[in-house]
Amino acid sequence: MVLTFIEYFKMRKTIYLTGFLLFAIACESNTYEEISDNTPIADLVRYETNVKPIIENSCISCHSSSSFKPLSNYNEVKDNIDIIINRIQRPNGDPLRMPQGGSMSSNQINLIVKWKNDGLIEK
Ligand code: HEC
Repeated sequence: MVLTFIEYFKMRKTIYLTGFLLFAIACESNTYEEISDNTPIADLVRYETNVKPIIENSCISCHSSSSFKPLSNYNEVKDNIDIIINRIQRPNGDPLRMPQGGSMSSNQINLIVKWKNDGLIEK
């Protein structure tokens, strides 16, 4: 098939445009959350600085000090760490998954797992 010059340039324009669009879509899907989730957590994880803010944000509304299952201080979280890790690592849609009715990023989940592996440091 013989292309005229005009057809040839039109085709090239379409190919460039398609390429650019694909590139833009690929960049767009790399949201901040995904990038930060793949970043290894380098430092030692500590309750006061790292774990407490997550628990306060995602769990305390139901697990306050006066609740059936308080997670409101270092000892309460430490003493329940295995069941906490079990609950937050359950698959989406599992009725036992915590936080109930909410969600946590995989970075936050990894951080709590690493807190245990680092030795449950308080401060
Ligand atoms: C909207 C309320 C709500 C939120 C938010 C919530 N929970 Fe729960 N949680 C519950 C309820 C209700 C139960 C009891 C039912 C069950 O065992 O699933 C429970 C049970 C648990 C248990 C099991 C307790 C036991 O003795 O077996 C753990 C551990 C737990 N939650 C941890 C967490 C953690 C960690 C978070 C935050 C990441 C969280 N929950 C957020 C309502 C909540």
